[in-house]
Amino acid sequence: MPHEETSFIYMDHAATTAVHPKALEAMLPYFSEQFHNPSSSYLPAQKARQAVDAARKTVADVLGTRPPEIIFTSGGTESDNAAIKGIAMALRPQGNHIITSAAEHHAVLHTCHFMEKLGFEVTYLPVDSRGMVSVSDIEKAIKRETVLISIMLANNEVGTINPVAEIAAIAKAKAKSLKTHIAVHTDAVQCPGYLDINVDRLGVDALSLSSHKFNGPKGAGVLYLRRATPFEAQQTGGSHERNRRAGTENVPGIAGTAVALKLAAEERAANVEQTKALRDRLIAGVQQRIQGAHLNGHPTERLPNNINFSFDRTDSQWTLMALDEAGIGASTGSACRTASLEPSHVLVACGIPANLAIGTLRLTLGPENTVQEVDRVLDVLPGIIQRVRDTAPPVEAKP
Ligand SMILES: Cc1ncc(COP(=O)(O)O)c(C=O)c1O
Repeated sequence: MPHEETSFIYMDHAATTAVHPKALEAMLPYFSEQFHNPSSSYLPAQKARQAVDAARKTVADVLGTRPPEIIFTSGGTESDNAAIKGIAMALRPQGNHIITSAAEHHAVLHTCHFMEKLGFEVTYLPVDSRGMVSVSDIEKAIKRETVLISIMLANNEVGTINPVAEIAAIAKAKAKSLKTHIAVHTDAVQCPGYLDINVDRLGVDALSLSSHKFNGPKGAGVLYLRRATPFEAQQTGGSHERNRRAGTENVPGIAGTAVALKLAAEERAANVEQTKALRDRLIAGVQQRIQGAHLNGHPTERLPNNINFSFDRTDSQWTLMALDEAGIGASTGSACRTASLEPSHVLVACGIPANLAIGTLRLTLGPENTVQEVDRVLDVLPGIIQRVRDTAPPVEAKP
C-alpha cells in the first residue's frame, strides 16, 4: 500500500530539504507588498534593496567574510559554473590548466568538460577507495599553466570530506614559488549545517552553496568570491552583483537563503551531534543485520548525515521501490539508463565494481529524523534486501 504522507520517513536530505518556517516567513513579504525591484529609485524599492543588503551581510558573516565577496546566484549549479568559467576565463592569459577530481558533482565535471572544448586542459585526479582526493596528487599535478583547482568539500553521494584547507595551502605555496595565480574553488553545497564553511579557515578563493540543501528555497544559491580573484562574469547584462552576475535579484530567495544559512550555522553543533548518532546507529544496524553490505565512503571523514551502502546481488531500483512502498524516501547510487543501470561516476571513481555499485542505497539524514525512524528503517531494510535478492530480475550493469 502506498504510504501515508504524514508518516513518510524522509531520508534524502542530500537531494533537497524543506524550507524552514522562519526562512519562509522572511521570504513572503517580497512576493507581495514589497515586490519592488531593488534597483528602482522610489522609496518602497528601498525595502527590497535593504533586504538584499542585509541578506548579503548575514551570508558574509556566516562565511567569515565581507559582503562584497558574496554573489547571489540561482543555486549550486550556477555557482559552480560561474566559479569555474569565470575564474578560468579571467586567468586564461596566464594559463589554461584546471585541476579537479573524478568524484565531483556533474555541475563541476560537466563544466570542466565544457572548458576542454574551449581549449583548457583539465586534470581529473583520482580519488581513493573511500572517495578522498590526495593532497600530494594535487601538488604533483600543479604546473605553471595551472589557474584553478576545484575540489568539493564533501561528496554528495558517499559523504567523504576532502582536505580542502590543506589543498588550498599547497596551491598557494606552489603558486608563490611559480610566481603565478592559482585560484581554489570548493563546492560546499552539502556542507552548511554540518561542516565549518569559514572561507579563511578553508583558505579558498571561491565557494559554492545551494539554498535548498540547507532549508532555504530552491532556485537560490551563493557564490563566495574572494576579493581580487580574477573573474569574468558569465551571465552578462545589467550591473547587478557588482557586475559579476547580471539579472534582477531574486529578493525572496535571497532573504530566505540568509535566514536559512544563519540557522544552519547556529544549529550546526546540535545538528551534527544528533545526525551523527543516528547515522552511526543506522550504519551499525545495517552491518549487523544484512550480509553483503559494503559501506561506501570514508568511515570517519564523512558528512554526519550520510549513509551509503552497496548491497551485493541487488539492483537498487527495486530496493528503492520497496522502501517507497514502506514509506521511506531514499536514493540510489545509479543513474537509470534504458534497460540497464549505469553505476554512478562517484562509485566508479572509488573503484566499486559495477555489479556492486548498482546495488547502492544512499540515506541522508536531517535534523527532524528520529531514533524511531532509524529503527523502522532497520526493521524493514533486511527483509527488503532479501526479497530483492530472491525475486528481482538478475542484476545487469554496464561495465
Ligand atoms: C555537491 C553538489 N554540487 C552541486 C549541486 C547542484 O545544486 P543545485 O541542484 O541546487 O543547482 C548539488 C546538488 O545535488 C550537489 O550535491
